[in-house]
Amino acid sequence: MKILVATSEAVPFAKTGGLADVTGALPLVLKEKGHDVRLVLPEYTMTKKWLANNPQFAVKRIDGIDVPIKGISIKCIVQELKYKNITVYLIKNDDYFLRDELYGTRSGDYEDNAERFIFFSRAVLKMLRLKDWSPDVIHLNDWQTSTIPLFLKTVYKDDPFYSSIATILTIHNLGYQGVFNPSELELFSGVDPQEIFTMDRIEFYGKINLLKAGIIYADIVNTVSPTYAQEIQTSECGYGLDGVLKQRSHELYGIINGIDYDVWNPETDKEIPYHYNLDCLENKELNKLNLINYFHLETKKAAAMSLQPLPDEQIPLIGLVGRLAAQKGLDILAEIFESLLSMDIRLILLGSGEEKYHSLLQKIARKYRGKISVNFGYNEELAHRIYASADMFLMPSHYEPCGLGQLISLRYGTVPIIRKTGGLSDTIEEFDPLSGDGNGFTFTEYSGKSLLQAIKRACYIYQHKPDWQRCVVSGMKQDYSWSNSAIEYVKLYRKAVDKVRKFKG
Ligand code: ADP
Ligand code: GLC
Repeated sequence: MKILVATSEAVPFAKTGGLADVTGALPLVLKEKGHDVRLVLPEYTMTKKWLANNPQFAVKRIDGIDVPIKGISIKCIVQELKYKNITVYLIKNDDYFLRDELYGTRSGDYEDNAERFIFFSRAVLKMLRLKDWSPDVIHLNDWQTSTIPLFLKTVYKDDPFYSSIATILTIHNLGYQGVFNPSELELFSGVDPQEIFTMDRIEFYGKINLLKAGIIYADIVNTVSPTYAQEIQTSECGYGLDGVLKQRSHELYGIINGIDYDVWNPETDKEIPYHYNLDCLENKELNKLNLINYFHLETKKAAAMSLQPLPDEQIPLIGLVGRLAAQKGLDILAEIFESLLSMDIRLILLGSGEEKYHSLLQKIARKYRGKISVNFGYNEELAHRIYASADMFLMPSHYEPCGLGQLISLRYGTVPIIRKTGGLSDTIEEFDPLSGDGNGFTFTEYSGKSLLQAIKRACYIYQHKPDWQRCVVSGMKQDYSWSNSAIEYVKLYRKAVDKVRKFKG
């Protein structure tokens, strides 16, 4: 099949979260399975930096194209490179994309986000004509690329170059929908605003909703876990789109994400000092001691706070890597900081996001120096070191479409402590010391109390080494590589293609 993956971020070119992991890894696996897969994303400042540091990936300028937007034409340049086994297109327009962040700063989103990503989506379609490459399917991701099927089914519907392209939309996170003022309707050049600004199209409580465009116009919709596919059809998790999603429930699928087993591999990971696998787990402990030392979290430093200081290796090290957003359960974590840090544990956090969580964590970090290390910003190397070093990994998410942190943790023998929601529910089961079943510690009620109980259960088992070892080993033995899920995606692509063919008769 000819497949174009269109995305606003993809590893290694630009990343703010799990979306980039998915769109960076899935195409490589699809290519290995014999498909002609290509990837397209904007060229950001971050992308330029990566390219400058990796000159072996030569970028070729293809040509400039005129993109119709807000009644005029704005230029961009299509660039191409070979990355591993696939072709990657980078859409270059420095006014829109040469910025420090992808979507906005800590104080808020960029004001022209609707324009930036409607421009990108339209540019993707024009690029296909420039390359004279008409894919069987375009795989869209989140609101940023959701207007592609809208353009296909309006301005391009009678154009033979475009009319047999099928589309599938993956919703990675319904909490981000791309909702804008109706004045932005002028961005849809060539589309009759009255045709699309209706309740059964992209109108959403008087505004326009770009994700809704994808849900309505894409041939097939999926999300990133079976549980989340169900959850988003309820009013609690549907963020106002549950009705629309329910209407499409016969074409709404849930496919669990994988992770890139080459990038996330404790046997070869370049970012970690000591490599390990199931046969030499003692090296995981060396990573732990190394990181504890690096952040000055050794027992002797924290002795003043501990009643009976244990040797460093016996004190559970808990890690958290993630966006600092309400979604990630930071408010229930904040509720229990005092109780948690009065326990014999160490905590290492890495994240960036909303201002209020930054200042909260800063305060805690000052108060409990020696027991907690709080690190702000995006830091790939430190993320790898935390996954490899921590004994436990926290994901107390309020909601979680799939979650990759828990999958990476399993791979690194780091036991996830999670709230039962979305993809976390589908991948993590409470460890039962009697049967030896399970790979983590879980709780259901969204409260600090339940989270603390789960952490306490984990810490209790941690002190019973043989049980703990079983839990670690069963996680490490699981397979969350992309192999299986990629097959599921191919099935969906075929469904979408069949649907378009049938429709065309
Ligand atoms: P989400 O996509 O909602 O942010 P996921 O669990 O799906 O959550 O994926 C998060 C990805 O981003 C993981 O690969 C995680 O390691 C990475 N990540 C998140 N925050 C940071 C950070 N501050 N520094 C480095 N990596 C991060
Ligand atoms: C989103 C979700 C996360 C998911 C990721 C990749 O950002 O929050 O749960 O793993 O996308 O699909």
